[in-house]
Amino acid sequence: MARIAKVIDLPSIVKLNKATGQIGAQLIQILREAVQQGDLQAGDPLPSSRELAQTLAIARGTIIEAYDQLIAEGVLEARARQGTFVSHALKSQSPQSVSPQSIDTESLTDAARTYVEIFKEFKPLAHRPFAISVPTGRTQPSDAWRKFGNRFRARGVAAPSGYDDPQGVYALRSAIADYVRRSRSVQCEPEQIVITSGIQQALYLCSQILFTHQDSVWVEDPAYRGTTAILENSLHQLQIYRVPVDQEGILVQKGIDLAPQARAAFVTPSHQYPLGMPMSLARRTELVAWAKQQRAWIVEDDYDSELRYTGQPFPALQAMAPDQVIYLGTFSKVLFPSLRLGYAVLPKVLVAPFCGLRALIDRHPPSADQHVLAAFIQEGYLERHIRRIRNVYAENRQQIIQLIDRYIPKTHAFIEAGDQGMHMVLWLAAPADDLKIAQTAVEAGVSIKAVSPTFSHAAQRAGLILGLGDFDLLQIENAIKTLAQIIRQHLELK
Ligand SMILES: Cc1ncc(COP(=O)(O)O)c(C=O)c1O
Repeated sequence: MARIAKVIDLPSIVKLNKATGQIGAQLIQILREAVQQGDLQAGDPLPSSRELAQTLAIARGTIIEAYDQLIAEGVLEARARQGTFVSHALKSQSPQSVSPQSIDTESLTDAARTYVEIFKEFKPLAHRPFAISVPTGRTQPSDAWRKFGNRFRARGVAAPSGYDDPQGVYALRSAIADYVRRSRSVQCEPEQIVITSGIQQALYLCSQILFTHQDSVWVEDPAYRGTTAILENSLHQLQIYRVPVDQEGILVQKGIDLAPQARAAFVTPSHQYPLGMPMSLARRTELVAWAKQQRAWIVEDDYDSELRYTGQPFPALQAMAPDQVIYLGTFSKVLFPSLRLGYAVLPKVLVAPFCGLRALIDRHPPSADQHVLAAFIQEGYLERHIRRIRNVYAENRQQIIQLIDRYIPKTHAFIEAGDQGMHMVLWLAAPADDLKIAQTAVEAGVSIKAVSPTFSHAAQRAGLILGLGDFDLLQIENAIKTLAQIIRQHLELK
């Protein structure tokens, strides 16, 4: 059973100085610091308000208010009939991890310095609004996940064993093949699937395998930074052509004008990242025709198409050209990102090279979780889970839209919601430094990213990317109020 944090576990509580007043604010600061410094860990229960009030000889109402404030900030969480706990969502913020800011880069190579910058850019946001894909109570996988885990790890297929297949375990590849054939009309056999550590690794494998020195490549403008950062840093020294998108998706003719002989196009046809629209059938047809004629690859990043809130998603682009398209899927959005499991559905000729490179990077994906996931999919739990979280995120998304409407005037910022996925873009109504706004927001406890890094230099637009996570309404409302204030101050200062 988890231990109850006693006052004694909070050495900093001695800093509480009743003589200087503002006891509630002091207490909030002390508890916040205790969590940040790791004195209190995710999941630790706090003393009851009565107990703490007695020990510190202060009013119980002050403790309750302090706890409520920290619950609203996402530092603590209240559980019915159990008490108050340090939020589980803070789990990943290990106080021991290296701070990229503190790294002395003088002795490093240029490549190493670049990766320090990437480390800074990709540092995960704290798990509070508007961090993307943070599953808590309602969006965590059902008990079946834990049961399969216990059962398989204790005995049988997922028990400790020797090295496994770099392609991924057959049971999972087979379950994924059934699932994507059924839900996304992807044409594939388990033999064509390579299990990856998320789409991120699959993009990296593509960048290494598909190109030779100084090949040209199309990437949508805007696009996911996880894609552009990989291509920009490829040792193949690729020539990257950013191809604009409109309401129908990538402007294929523009790509042809820019670089007709490109070796590949990186696209997000189900849900353009970050703008949100699907690629029209006309554009899909044009893109496939170009790729067939040029014998070019299309890398289809299908990162969140399962989370569509109205109507049916388009079938995957892969179905139109299975020999040309590399189809990438992930369990980060529909299950949880720390699982680090995704998949590439490949034209047959690419399977062996993908497996070879995968073997050099990390041999193979962890076997136990693959078996757990295979059973979770095969026994129908995944699709049930997706139906459930779709409702939660749809509700969450609606609430965010309404609250933005209430607190942020359209003359300051307006939302581009789309009808699927786990993020929305809040466009700033006037030209503004979105990186600075995002930085100020992060310092004020709102987890948010600027949209401008997803654009090429020439196409810059300012806005903020709001991720959907499973946060409570009070937390969301507080974050939007803070954001409204930061945007207002920033626009007034200009
Ligand atoms: C467009 C896009 N592609 C790929 C990824 C990477 O996902 P994964 O967690 O599977 O690496 C993300 C993650 O947010 C994304 O937004």
